[in-house]
Amino acid sequence: MASFSFSSSSSILFLLFSISIAATSFTPKSLVLPVIKHPSLQYIIQIHQRTPLVPVNLTVDLGGRFMWVDCDRGYVSSSYKPARCRSAQCYLAKSISCGKCYLPPHPGCNNHTCHLPAENTVIQLSSSGEVTSDVVSVSSTNDFNPTRALSVHNFLFVCSSTFLLEGLAGGVTGMAGFGRTRISLPSQFAAAFSFNRKFTVCLSGSTRFPGVIFSGYGPYHFLPNTDLTNSLTYTPLFINPLGFAGEKSSEYFIGVKSIEFNSKTHFLNTVPLNTTLLKIDRNGNGGTKISTVNPYTVLEPSIYNALVKTFTTELGNIPRVDAVAPFEVCYSSKSFGSTELGPGVASIDLILQNKKVIWRMFGANSMVLVNDEVLCLGFVDGGVEAKTAVVIGAHQIEDNLLEFDLATSRLGFSSTLLGRNTNCANFNLS
Ligand SMILES: *[C@@H]1O[C@H](CO)[C@@H](O)[C@H](O)[C@H]1NC(C)=O
Ligand SMILES: *[C@@H]1O[C@H](CO)[C@@H](O)[C@H](O)[C@H]1NC(C)=O
Ligand SMILES: *[C@@H]1O[C@H](CO)[C@@H](O)[C@H](O)[C@H]1NC(C)=O
Repeated sequence: MASFSFSSSSSILFLLFSISIAATSFTPKSLVLPVIKHPSLQYIIQIHQRTPLVPVNLTVDLGGRFMWVDCDRGYVSSSYKPARCRSAQCYLAKSISCGKCYLPPHPGCNNHTCHLPAENTVIQLSSSGEVTSDVVSVSSTNDFNPTRALSVHNFLFVCSSTFLLEGLAGGVTGMAGFGRTRISLPSQFAAAFSFNRKFTVCLSGSTRFPGVIFSGYGPYHFLPNTDLTNSLTYTPLFINPLGFAGEKSSEYFIGVKSIEFNSKTHFLNTVPLNTTLLKIDRNGNGGTKISTVNPYTVLEPSIYNALVKTFTTELGNIPRVDAVAPFEVCYSSKSFGSTELGPGVASIDLILQNKKVIWRMFGANSMVLVNDEVLCLGFVDGGVEAKTAVVIGAHQIEDNLLEFDLATSRLGFSSTLLGRNTNCANFNLS
């Protein structure tokens, strides 16, 4: 049976490959990557790559399929190893194409190598690049702070071109994909260090103090000595059957059943929605995903309008002020009290698999202070072309701990950490 022999040979190849990228003899429990919020609202990590090692800044793409880097400009490394056609690396990367290069060989252009389309998901641009590998070095952690840097030899990525950097923050030379594939960053770290395929994201709301991404096993202690891993709520992750290039999506979808305001009070306000939109259909439309490349949550128009109507009705006659793009619903910041969870507004609650599993967003995540005087509802209208009904954006996950478990297909979430006297910048990075 053809399908059987293919799958067994690919798992043998995977096994061989896992062994070949096994890193150093020291096995850490987890790795830690500081994440900086750039003023452009991109979230940036720095890894060290190549021989000799150089720092490389990358925009984090939570649902991205792999790491891609600009190889046109200044890629120098003695450990660069392109993936030869039909090698184990090409199988793992799911690339069946085979490319030639008629120029003198250099990073990104070698004879008889496999290729994959790299995607700049910030501006929706893609371009094919050579599948390749090189040394990558990241910090391990003892759960309290970073410890020694560890190298992964033969870390797979795609070599792309300078033009694909358009729209990325200054100084960034590629994107770091944490999606659901065998060659995303967490999958390769898991293979190299025998971790579970699991990673944890905690984005800081501040551009001055970095948040963190962990890959591997917790617990993770945030100052003041708070272990956040035993206080998560879990919800299943769903697979969208149709993503980039007609393949199974590598993005993270959750099952939102309804949206309510203040669901824990008696004055419950359900946002009236067409619930069909909240399910992923055969064509990959609909559903709810989480994204770090969308700075704010993007909603399908009918959902957006219903949310705005419920929100403004709830606030009664509090006067609105002129809109500040990309937002439409804005108020004087003086109209709201300030609480430890941000501006004092009703919580926006995503009701998940049942009425008891709720992702609650308080003012710090639902509202955006656009300047000293103006506070806006931090959701945007996706327009008629919106493919996904709800794209939970970065502002809405700031100062929340999210644990993505690829092996068990579930998401652990904390809701805001601000109510627990800590935040995502409180992991001791020194
Ligand atoms: C690449 O392969 C082609 C065809 O096999 C050959 O003509 C060409 O010289 C090779 N290029 C290099 C740089 O080796
Ligand atoms: C990369 O990021 C680091 C840390 O955020 C920053 O200090 C550095 O200037 C950046 N590199 C470039 C080339 O912009
Ligand atoms: C709900 O959305 C689905 C999918 O877009 C659409 O086919 C259906 O007509 C909508 N139903 C209502 C009542 O608007």
